[in-house]
Amino acid sequence: MSDVLELQDVSVVREGRALVDQVSWSVKEGERWVILGPNGAGKTTLLNIASSYLYPSKGTVGILGETLGTPGTDVFELRPRIGMAGIAMADKLPKRQTVLQTVLTAAYGMTAGWQEEYEDIDEQRARAFLDRLGMSEYLDRKFGTLSEGERKRTLIARALMTDPELLLLDEPAAGLDLGGREDLVRRLGRLARDPIAPSMIMVTHHVEEIAPGFTHVLMIRQGKVLAAGPLELELTSRNLSLCFGLPLVVEQVGDRYTAQGLPMS
Ligand SMILES: Nc1ncnc2c1ncn2[C@@H]1O[C@H](COP(=O)(O)OP(=O)(O)O)[C@@H](O)[C@H]1O
Ligand SMILES: [Mg+2]
Repeated sequence: MSDVLELQDVSVVREGRALVDQVSWSVKEGERWVILGPNGAGKTTLLNIASSYLYPSKGTVGILGETLGTPGTDVFELRPRIGMAGIAMADKLPKRQTVLQTVLTAAYGMTAGWQEEYEDIDEQRARAFLDRLGMSEYLDRKFGTLSEGERKRTLIARALMTDPELLLLDEPAAGLDLGGREDLVRRLGRLARDPIAPSMIMVTHHVEEIAPGFTHVLMIRQGKVLAAGPLELELTSRNLSLCFGLPLVVEQVGDRYTAQGLPMS
């Protein structure tokens, strides 16, 4: 399999309920996907599958050419090839480590520890990613003292540190103020348009957070795929309304999107 991600008929069942329900979805190299869906739709569960940390109850999962659960696939070789930035990660990281250390430790597959000898080249890379995310002034700050936006940008820099082939972002703009959101969208847009950047999958609730450079959208509701394909074809008012369960109008404004509910009649 040469696809970045190939899900065939994948379900995740917990307590008799399908959190992800017969999902078939493929992501090709260079594509940048947005996953849209209401709270509880199964977006994070899908990302956990894509990160190889969650095995489905049914179906087959191919990640970066490896099929999960087959003898030839070693998830410990696969995982460094995938970068993941989400809330769950932030809780695992030591609050007293500096920002630079937080990013640097990713190169060694650890969430803690500053005993190792770090290579100069790694420190340069960590600094470069932090610079790209606008975090150069915070290198020596303790991770635990960062604002929401600063923490998110640090986590994205950290996810890039292993030079992943696939980058997974779970609600990277959630909780940011308007300035923080716009700053992040701009930075993600730059990354998305960079031809040597990894394939990207970003979960969000808001079409306003879709950065220019993202190419495809997957819409899910109650674990099921509602729409999947190029943004310009699938990000329609009809699909978005079905996805969120209320009448919505989506508009393109320049290279961004905006959506709002129809006024009550
Ligand atoms: N381990 C679990 N056992 C049972 N239910 C779960 C488990 N993990 C998540 N869920 C439920 O599955 C649904 C989908 O969760 P999630 O993928 O986190 O949704 P989203 O990220 O789209 O908000 C939610 O209703 C959530 O409560
Ligand atoms: Mg979630």
